[in-house]
Amino acid sequence: MNKPRRALLKVIVLGDSGVGKTSLMNQYVYKKFSQQYKATIGADFVTKELQIDDKLVTLQIWDTAGQERFQSLGSAFYRGADCCVLVYDVNFKVSKGYDDGNCSVRRDGNDNVITADPVDPDAFPFILFGNKIDGGSSRMVSEKKAREWCASRGDIPYFETSAKEGYNVNEAFLCVAKMALEGE
Ligand code: GTP
Ligand code: MG
Repeated sequence: MNKPRRALLKVIVLGDSGVGKTSLMNQYVYKKFSQQYKATIGADFVTKELQIDDKLVTLQIWDTAGQERFQSLGSAFYRGADCCVLVYDVNFKVSKGYDDGNCSVRRDGNDNVITADPVDPDAFPFILFGNKIDGGSSRMVSEKKAREWCASRGDIPYFETSAKEGYNVNEAFLCVAKMALEGE
C-alpha cells in the first residue's frame, strides 16, 4: 500500500520570554520582522506548508507565552506534539526560564546553556535554537558550549538563528519538519 502523501504535524515552540519565539515564526511563515516587543498571551498557531520528498507537509506551529503568568498550557497541549522547539537567546547569561509544570526550559546559572525537563521526554523529539546571533559582541553563550550541551542530552539537533536577519530560519524549521515527520 502507498504511504499517505500528506501529513499534518504539530510543533510547539517553547522558551523564556523575549528570546524571539514569535519573531522566528513570523520570519519563517511571513518573512517579516518587527523590533517591537509584544508579549504573546496564551498560545496560538500558524501553519506552513512545505514539500519533503514526495510528501506535502503542513506544519502547525504553536507559539507559546514565555511570561510566567501566561503559562498554563496543560498536558493535552504537549501530548499531540510531533516536535518541540526550545529557543534561547545567545546574548543572555542568566534568564528566569520557562516552566509550566510539563516542561521547563531555563538557563542553569553556570555555563550550561539551558535545562529542559519535559515530563515525558520520549513523547516527542526536541530541537534547540540559539537565537539573536546577530548581536555581535554581546554574545554570552558560545556555539561550542551550546553544541556540547546538546551532545550531552542525547544529540539534540542545534541551530543558530537570527529572526531579525532571517539567518538559518528556513534551515532550522526544515529540520523541525523532518524530525516531526520521522516521529509521526
Ligand atoms: P514572549 O511572547 O514574551 O514569550 O516573547 P518571544 O519569545 O515571542 O519574543 P519576541 O519574538 O516577541 O521577541 C522579543 C524581542 O526580541 C522583540 O523586540 C524582537 O524584535 C527581538 N528579537 C527577536 N528575534 C531577534 C533576533 O534574531 N535578533 C534581534 N536582534 N532581535 C530579535
Ligand atoms: Mg511571543
